[in-house]
Amino acid sequence: MKILTVVGARPQFVKAAMVSRAVILHNREGRSPGITEEIVHTGQHYDPGMSQVFFDEMSIPEPAVNLEVGSGPHGEMTGRMLEGIEKEILSREPDWVLVYGDTNSTLAGALAAAKLHVPVAHVEAGMRSFNKRMPEEINRVLTDHVSTLLLCPTRAAVANLAREGITRNVHAIGDVMYDASLVFGEIAGKRSGALERLGLAAKGYALVTCHRAENTDDARRLGGILDGLSRVAAGLPVVFPVHPRTRKRIAQFGYEDRARAIRMVEPVSFVDMVRLEQKARVIVTDSGGVQKEAYFHGVPCVTLRDETEWVETVEAGWNQVVGADADRIAAAVARACPGRSIKEYGDGHASELVVKRIVGS
Ligand code: UD1
Repeated sequence: MKILTVVGARPQFVKAAMVSRAVILHNREGRSPGITEEIVHTGQHYDPGMSQVFFDEMSIPEPAVNLEVGSGPHGEMTGRMLEGIEKEILSREPDWVLVYGDTNSTLAGALAAAKLHVPVAHVEAGMRSFNKRMPEEINRVLTDHVSTLLLCPTRAAVANLAREGITRNVHAIGDVMYDASLVFGEIAGKRSGALERLGLAAKGYALVTCHRAENTDDARRLGGILDGLSRVAAGLPVVFPVHPRTRKRIAQFGYEDRARAIRMVEPVSFVDMVRLEQKARVIVTDSGGVQKEAYFHGVPCVTLRDETEWVETVEAGWNQVVGADADRIAAAVARACPGRSIKEYGDGHASELVVKRIVGS
């Protein structure tokens, strides 16, 4: 059986790494049918620190091809990907196309495959923010509606699909990011020198990530976030590995001064990120994945958005969703504390279930 995996952006490399390990395990154990996995990298993320470092560090098989699509407006970027992925599907003739999450690369992979009648497996299916202004929400909804096999991380995701009339071949398998947090949590403890390199004390800093278009491309929201973080920084060091999109916007809006109290560093590798997450006192983020990683590592989270797909983290008291208002951000960081345990994300073997479900479908 041949699987063509389409990836392109940072969080997908992490998820694909876990499933590629499961494919290798499946083959090593001599299970039938044997699986050949070929990876198509769309090139959506192209800076070495946003892409290659993940392939190196996580032993992801080298991509069979990199489409080098790079940045651009959504339509142009997605269109270029569609054209490239279609060619790869036609020449490589996979039995399945495997896509992850909600990026433009996800949608392009799913759409190209569905139009060629190649079955699509979507990992992280059924997530919804119900905010159609997010490009990710459009990508998720469309991808789910052309997918053959819908692999959901939570029961809430299964219910979201049911509301849209999608009930066939839907499975709650747990969260491959939880698998990653277990494997890389251990590795990070042994291998990462991030704390020492950045001179940080365990539980003595706030860790920040912020890259969503809704925050970075809106001067008022980005300003509010920087002001809120600066207020936090008056009492607790704030470390912020800055996504290239955010760095560009800070310069463009002339916000360098408003960010002066914040310790801005280059994007970090996954192993270093996990280490920084494990040892943070609080995590402040607008990323989907990082909200859950905070919980996986037992760290309270403050989310810089107006809604979240990961509703369990809020219900269990780990996550406060506060938007981009400076006062609310500072107040939420001050009262952030651990919550109750969440049973939703599986047992650390979701990646193996991805392989099992594809093989069994
Ligand atoms: C994308 C995903 C988002 C995901 C995020 C993870 C979409 C619509 N969004 O957002 O869901 O959470 O990846 O990081 O697919 N850039 C660089 N170097 C890079 C990559 C990007 O400089 O390696 C710059 C580009 O100039 C681009 C900007 O960052 O204009 C945004 O990149 P893009 O891939 O459009 O979206 P992300 O913000 O990374």
